[in-house]
Amino acid sequence: MIMGCAQGYLRDHGPRVAVLASRLGRELDLSEDACARLFFAGVLSDMGMVGLAEDAWEHPRPTLSPEARARVRLHPERSQEAVRRIPHLESLAPLIRSHHEWWNGSGYPDGLVGERIPEEARILRLADTVSALRQPRPHRRALTADEASEIVRRSGGQEFGPGVTRVFLSMDRGGRVPGYDPQVYRTMLGGFAGTLLPEAVPPLSAQQLLRILADLIDAKDPYTAGHSRRVAALAVAVAEQLGLPGAVTEVLWASGYLHDLGKLRVPLRVLTKPGRLSDDEVGYIRAHPVLGADLLGTIPTLRHLTHAVRYHHERWDGQGYPAGLRRDRIPLTAQILAVCDAYDAMVSTRAYRDARSPDDALEEIARCSGMHFNPRVAEAFFEVSEETFAAVHADRPVSPRFVSEAQRRRADTAFDGTTMMRTF
Ligand SMILES: [Fe+2]
Ligand SMILES: [Fe+2]
Ligand SMILES: [Fe+2]
Repeated sequence: MIMGCAQGYLRDHGPRVAVLASRLGRELDLSEDACARLFFAGVLSDMGMVGLAEDAWEHPRPTLSPEARARVRLHPERSQEAVRRIPHLESLAPLIRSHHEWWNGSGYPDGLVGERIPEEARILRLADTVSALRQPRPHRRALTADEASEIVRRSGGQEFGPGVTRVFLSMDRGGRVPGYDPQVYRTMLGGFAGTLLPEAVPPLSAQQLLRILADLIDAKDPYTAGHSRRVAALAVAVAEQLGLPGAVTEVLWASGYLHDLGKLRVPLRVLTKPGRLSDDEVGYIRAHPVLGADLLGTIPTLRHLTHAVRYHHERWDGQGYPAGLRRDRIPLTAQILAVCDAYDAMVSTRAYRDARSPDDALEEIARCSGMHFNPRVAEAFFEVSEETFAAVHADRPVSPRFVSEAQRRRADTAFDGTTMMRTF
């Protein structure tokens, strides 16, 4: 679900690929294990696409710029990296790496040819293309089943291996190509999880799950690498200063990781725009706390985080968003996130401005105390030890490549001072 909202035009794409790929595996008499691998690789094969090239879906392929194409071509390796970090699913990494290899050798990233491409990757290739063709794009309607099958027939031996092409076309003639049904997907998800994950394997820890989600959120915007983790760590430190109970600290820790979940739904071009934002674009940005909170509200084990996430951009003086709450009407957890979020945003490079020094950022928080921030929370923030700050920011927030790119992009844009205060 989270992948779907991260991908915009790719909504439900992963589940569609998963259902079709695992059915193809069954028709090819593959083992139950192989079908389960196909299913999970189908869901996750495009997770590396987050933040890479949303514009790629707004244009027909031939008109894509070389830069957009180059970015798209990075995604199998990024997906491979991301899957390697998911406990119990690491073994899918090689398969996911190869899901854009073409039978005739013109695919990527390795240009493998024919039988050198793992059979399961050939199946994913076909399932991926058919699923994409059956969904609408801004520049074309969804193709009918017959139109998609005709493309598969013509691409056999080119994009697709002859074996998987034959099996798909025979399924098509027999009316056995599954349409997409979310209910069927969920049932298969339960069944294949039992196959792929041995019963003795412990479930993901909360820490692991949050890391995976936070990586996904931060991957959306190259300027925010590690932001979620740092906000979580700072928020916990402030909670300790305030002497808050353990249960509240835990909410802060988890909601720090997830506070920007809604950004997955904000177009990348808006998040990384260097100059002034249009009203529509501001609307998108301002929607992210609500989008994130609404999404969390649908996940029973994370529902208790919705308040902190929904209100993390409220201001003490009532000038924030989305609700314009004032003072103690704002949940304390959200007040704490607001200070930590603003601090980390200020000391990180963003598309629209350079990083500020920690001293500068602290001064700014002091200046905004009582307007933007609860003075008591700002006070507690100042009490956090130097060692904690040093530990939290030990890894450089942003790679130098992005710093120079940000400077170049700003030079191309009429710079406008108001963007200094953008801290989303
Ligand atoms: Fe892909
Ligand atoms: Fe944030
Ligand atoms: Fe935010």
